[in-house]
Amino acid sequence: MYSSFDNPGLVKVLRFLQTHNTEYLSGQDLSDVLRISRVAVWKHIKKIQELGYAVESKQKLGYKLTANSELLLPWEITSNLKTGIVGKQAYYFDTVDSTQNQALKMAEDVAKDGAIIVAAKQTGGRGRSGRRWISPKGGIWISIILHPKFDISRTTLFPIAASLALSIAIEKTFSIRPELKWPNDLTIKGKKVAGMLVDVSLESNKIEKLVLGVGINFDLNVKQIERALKGTQNFYGVASLRKHKQEVKPIHLIQTFLVELEKIYKSLNAKQTKKIISEWTKRSSTIGKNVVLDTTESKIKGKAIKIDEDGALIILENKKSHKVIAGDVIHLEK
Ligand code: BTN
Repeated sequence: MYSSFDNPGLVKVLRFLQTHNTEYLSGQDLSDVLRISRVAVWKHIKKIQELGYAVESKQKLGYKLTANSELLLPWEITSNLKTGIVGKQAYYFDTVDSTQNQALKMAEDVAKDGAIIVAAKQTGGRGRSGRRWISPKGGIWISIILHPKFDISRTTLFPIAASLALSIAIEKTFSIRPELKWPNDLTIKGKKVAGMLVDVSLESNKIEKLVLGVGINFDLNVKQIERALKGTQNFYGVASLRKHKQEVKPIHLIQTFLVELEKIYKSLNAKQTKKIISEWTKRSSTIGKNVVLDTTESKIKGKAIKIDEDGALIILENKKSHKVIAGDVIHLEK
């Protein structure tokens, strides 16, 4: 596991290579400037390469960084991140059962407010309604710890608001606008590109801690995942984000998302929900459609009219209005 505040030596060497990437830097120069031994320089460079950065090494000339890593490494997430608390502490795992489980453990420590936990790969990724979430390398699997001030009734609106933040962030970085399928799926051409999960623990009627889990199919083999998921509940196709614009780096998407998420989080804490609901509705593919809503108790068939201030879906079935807080929606029309 790496965090944004350990490995200062490695980060020092890396930052120097990143800011001097037009020239070769000799091991001796790096050692003199950074005041670390040549052996330490060599060890850090080896590790930097292992972490996916491309560092060219030429005899007599030295080292040159030619490409950054694609991994969402913690010091890259926090570097120049324009937020107050969200994402200001970052933890990275190569492989973990579930970032959500890790985050829940870490959230016991109140000082971890805003922390983000990232994994390159999850072996026991969790989806909504107890489903599994397939999480191989190439996706973005993150969980964010928060200690919100908003009322418990807003807990159901929070993941909806977070899906809006991600849709805005994807639009800003990829110039494509994913649609929002109630409650919090992001879709491209009707296929799922991202999903959200929230775990909350309450204490005497207050939210003690909340962990937001976000899974983004960033650059994945769609066919492979679809094969594994076919026939499972709420499966309606998988989309992978990056094929639309190859040069977008995952780090840009995540930093943009963290900024958008914090904006929305502040609005919720300040009880400003109207704008969130209207923005979500504008991007929604569910509102106005004939749908079937599958809740654990029943199936409702009707027209999706709107979401209310708690994020609940209002469905009109033969002139009878239903308010649904949780469930899976099937769109009956395109
Ligand atoms: C859904 O079913 O749509 C929600 C999927 C949420 C998946 C993410 S991946 C990161 C975090 N860790 C998990 O185990 N699940 C969430």
